[in-house]
Amino acid sequence: MESLILIILIIIPGSWSGNWRVTSGDQCALKGSSVVIKCEYDYPLDHMVTAVGWSKTLYVSGKRRRFLLSRLPSPPEHFVYVGDRWSDCSLQINDVQHIDKGAYFFTFETTLNTWTSKASARLSVRELTTVVEPSTVTEGDNVRLTCVSGCPTPINIVWFRDGQRVSNSVFQAGREDAGSYYCAALGQETVRSASVALNVQYLPENISISMDPPHVVEGSSVNLTCSSAANPAAHSYTWYSQGIASSVSSMLQVGSGQVLSLPSVDASHTGLYLCQAANQLGENNSTEVLLVIKRKNPDGLSLLILAGIGLSVLVTLVLTLLLFWLKQRTRAENKQAVYDSRLSGRGLSSLDPSDSVNANIYMLPPSTPSSPPPVTATQDSAPHSQRKSHHEHDDPPAYEDEVTYSTVTITPRNPSLPHHMNNSRVLRDSWSKAGENDDSVIYASVAKSS
Ligand SMILES: *[C@@H]1O[C@H](CO)[C@@H](O)[C@H](O)[C@H]1NC(C)=O
Ligand SMILES: *[C@@H]1O[C@H](CO)[C@@H](O)[C@H](O)[C@H]1NC(C)=O
Ligand SMILES: *[C@@H]1O[C@H](CO)[C@@H](O)[C@H](O)[C@H]1NC(C)=O
Ligand SMILES: *[C@@H]1O[C@H](CO)[C@@H](O)[C@H](O)[C@H]1NC(C)=O
Repeated sequence: MESLILIILIIIPGSWSGNWRVTSGDQCALKGSSVVIKCEYDYPLDHMVTAVGWSKTLYVSGKRRRFLLSRLPSPPEHFVYVGDRWSDCSLQINDVQHIDKGAYFFTFETTLNTWTSKASARLSVRELTTVVEPSTVTEGDNVRLTCVSGCPTPINIVWFRDGQRVSNSVFQAGREDAGSYYCAALGQETVRSASVALNVQYLPENISISMDPPHVVEGSSVNLTCSSAANPAAHSYTWYSQGIASSVSSMLQVGSGQVLSLPSVDASHTGLYLCQAANQLGENNSTEVLLVIKRKNPDGLSLLILAGIGLSVLVTLVLTLLLFWLKQRTRAENKQAVYDSRLSGRGLSSLDPSDSVNANIYMLPPSTPSSPPPVTATQDSAPHSQRKSHHEHDDPPAYEDEVTYSTVTITPRNPSLPHHMNNSRVLRDSWSKAGENDDSVIYASVAKSS
């Protein structure tokens, strides 16, 4: 019997005092981590451990009660006894949650007794906390990331931004550094802090103007829309314009708001446009865009109308000219008839009708009544003197409205006739007669061809 006890003493390690005792310590665990509550127990030499178990104090209806862990609803492998049946009573808790905090007790049974720890092992559950200083920066500012653990045990941590590893916890903020940061325990990345945003602000940039529609025709409406990338978003927009034909060399403010509406454009709207976007940090300009207003193309109908108008003008002109020409022709024929009848009435019927008679008729405009008649033969000055006296006596001013000058060349068949005298007299008669009957006067001089 003594030798058996000796063997047992040799096999069981640790400081075995032989008193009833459980020794465990308080623990701090980070949420999501695994923690081991270290524990040792002791009992008199002549006892054999038959059962071990852990329990936890819970408050039910305001009363403090102890529950065996095996009776608590928990995921499998959440509580794992990592001790033994001799002296180690350690308990491992996996994926610690806030609900796991509290007071834990170890109980063991021996062949002769049951013993429960007098002092509890207290578990506190903490978290990692990320601090971003400052959390809102302007591009170029320095940023410091700090990871605060709620438990005193030092741990190695790593940084993540939007799920991607970040190597530095102190840096100069660029636009690309904006995002959600969290720290995590190295090797246990389920142990992590909540995310904290870093806000990197910058002036409006990539400011662009879009035009609706692209092609702008006179009279149509145009919307120019200004868009920009800015943080914080642009809160105001100002429009500037410079007419292409404007004498002003600088741009003038022409509107505000993200959309510049030009309800009815004309050629004066052609020019350079730019928009200025502003946020809390300041303002920036878009590049200038050229707005070109196209002239309206006449459509098919207008072309037809134009063609119609053109055609009718042409026809009217031609008809007018034709009528005018016919009238003049008739008048000239009348004069010729009077002349011919005078000639035959004075015994000049021997003249062959085929004799050449050339008549040049000049219509004078009202404003130039005194232009001299073209004279092809000047042997006889009678027509001039006759005209003069006629004018001096009874010419009303309106009389000169239609003055017809005529040059007549007659080639008679019989050369012995004193044409000179006869013709002059005949013409004098015909003038006076014509002047009485007609509102036109014919001045004529006759040249003998042979
Ligand atoms: C102004 O906008 C232009 C064009 O987007 C950009 O290149 C420039 O960096 C901006 N200026 C500032 C001070 O951000
Ligand atoms: C321009 O915008 C106004 C109102 O924002 C809208 O009524 C109009 O139809 C738009 N014009 C064009 C050409 O998009
Ligand atoms: C501005 O435009 C450039 C080129 O397209 C792009 O790389 C950049 O991300 C844009 N900036 C912002 C703030 O969107
Ligand atoms: C933007 O354009 C306006 C008009 O030309 C000018 O007065 C202003 O100084 C410009 N601002 C910047 C930041 O270039």
